[in-house]
Amino acid sequence: MTKFKFISLPLIVMLVSLTLYPALAHKKNHTPPPPQDPSQPPQDPKPKPPRDPKDCPPPRDRKRRSPPRTPPPQEPKQDPPPPQEPKQDPPPPQDPPPPQEPKQDPPPPQEPKQDPPPPQDPPPPEDKKDIPPPDEPKKPTPFHNRFKGRFEAVIAFGDSYTDTGNAQFLGGLSISFSGSLSSPYGSTTFGKGSNRLSDGRLVIDFITDSLGLPVLPPYQQTVANFTTGVNLAIAGATTVANDIFSKLARVFLWKGTPLGIMTELEWYKKYQIEHLCKGLDQKACSEKIKTVLFWVGEIGINDFSRAVGSKIPLKSIAKSSVTYTIELVRTLIRNGAKNIVVQGLPPLGCLPLDISLTPISLRDRSGCSLIVNTAVIVHNQILQAKLELYRKLFPDVTIIYADSWKAYYAIVNNAKKYQIQEVHKTCCGSTIKQDDMNFNIQSMCGSSGTSICSDPSKYISWDGIHPTESMNYHMTDQYINHGCCHPPFDELMKKPAPK
Ligand SMILES: *[C@@H]1O[C@H](CO)[C@@H](O)[C@H](O)[C@H]1NC(C)=O
Repeated sequence: MTKFKFISLPLIVMLVSLTLYPALAHKKNHTPPPPQDPSQPPQDPKPKPPRDPKDCPPPRDRKRRSPPRTPPPQEPKQDPPPPQEPKQDPPPPQDPPPPQEPKQDPPPPQEPKQDPPPPQDPPPPEDKKDIPPPDEPKKPTPFHNRFKGRFEAVIAFGDSYTDTGNAQFLGGLSISFSGSLSSPYGSTTFGKGSNRLSDGRLVIDFITDSLGLPVLPPYQQTVANFTTGVNLAIAGATTVANDIFSKLARVFLWKGTPLGIMTELEWYKKYQIEHLCKGLDQKACSEKIKTVLFWVGEIGINDFSRAVGSKIPLKSIAKSSVTYTIELVRTLIRNGAKNIVVQGLPPLGCLPLDISLTPISLRDRSGCSLIVNTAVIVHNQILQAKLELYRKLFPDVTIIYADSWKAYYAIVNNAKKYQIQEVHKTCCGSTIKQDDMNFNIQSMCGSSGTSICSDPSKYISWDGIHPTESMNYHMTDQYINHGCCHPPFDELMKKPAPK
C-alpha cells in the first residue's frame, strides 16, 4: 500500500499538471516549420566545424543581434544585479568553511527548514546491469588532440549531460536507452550500448578527445582502465537534497529518489584512493592531482524540471543548486585540484520538457519557460560570483566558467549558420502529437509510438531533455573557440603542464 502511494503520487502530480494545461496541445508554433526536404538523404551526422571568432557575443550584444526567428529570452533585466540575499544562501553541507574566507562571503545563516543540510544520498540500487562497455567512436572529433599532453586525466561530475554510463550501470533509469537493439540512443556515433543520453557524443567526449585522451569510463563500469580518468556524473542526479523532491515533485528519468552530487563526491574519494593515488605518498598524490582536469558538468536539469508546477519556488532551487555545486568545487580545491572547469546552466526553460510543463502565460516570446529561465539566470549569476570569489581566494587554481547560457544563444540565434533547422522540436519523440514539439512526456524517445528524425544534426534537442551530438559539438566549439569561457579556455590549456 505504501509502495503504491509512493509510486502513484508523483504520477498524479504529473497527470494533474498536464491536465491543468490542456492548452499545451494547441499552442501556436514556437518556430516556423523549416523547409522540409524529404527527398534529400540524411547527411553525414558528423558535425561540421564552423569557424567564426565572433560567434559568442558578449551578453550585452544579445539584443542587437537577435534575429526575428528566435528572439532572445526575455530576461527580466539585461544585466540583473549580482546575487542578492546572501543571507538566505543555505549553508554548505558538512565541511566547515575554509579558514581564510573573506568578509564578502558572509557566514551562512540559519538554514531554511525545507532545505536539510547534509544531503544523504540513498545507497545506489544493487542490481547492476551486465552491459558491455561501448565501443570507442571510430571517428576522431574535430578537436582531436588539440591539447594533447596538457592533462594526464580528466575527472568529471554532473548529470545526464555528462554521464557516460553510471546511471545505466546502476539500472536506475526509467527510460530504456541502451542495451536494447532497437534503442535510438547512441545511433549517430556509438551504436547500441552508448550508455549516453544522446544520439552520440556528449560535451565531455569532445573535451577528452581534444586532450588526446580516450572516452571517460563511468565509475560504475566494473572492468575499465581508469588511468586517464573517470566519469562520476550520474544521469538524473540532483544537487538539491533529495528528500525535498520525494513528496512533491514529479518523477522522470530516475525511477526513485535520484542520486545526488554528494554520491559523486563519495565516489571521487574512493577513486582517488583506489586508482588515482594508489601507491603514492601524500606529496606524490598532490603532484598527481595537478595533472588532472576536473570537469564540473552542469547539474540542475533534474532539480529545475522537477520543481516546475510544484510548490517548490524555483528561485530557492536555484540558490540551493548553486550552493551544492560550489561546495563540490570547494571540496575539490581543498583536496588539491588546480584546474577546474565549471559549466553554467543553459536555458533549461527552452527544453521541450520544461516548455511542456509551463503554462503559456509563463512563457517568453520565443516560447521558452520564463519561470525556469529566470531561475537559471539566478543560478548562473550566483555561481559566477562565487567562482570569482574563489579565484581571488585561491590564485593558484585556474577556475574556468563555461558559459552554457551564452553558448546556447550564440548557436540558436545563428541557427542557420550552423545548419540547425529545429530549435524546439525534438528529434526523437512522440508521433502522437501533444504539441508541435514532437514531445510527449508520457511517450518519450525509445518507447513505442516514437520515431527519429532523419538528420539529428539539424536539431538541437535529441529527446526533449538532452541535446543532440551536433548540439554538444557546437557547445564545445563555443567553449573552446568562441569565447564562451571565462577566463578563456586557452588560459587553462596554455598553462604549462606540470612535469
Ligand atoms: C591503461 O591505460 C593506460 C593509458 O592509456 C595504459 O598505459 C595502460 O597500459 C592501460 N592499462 C591496462 C591494464 O590496460
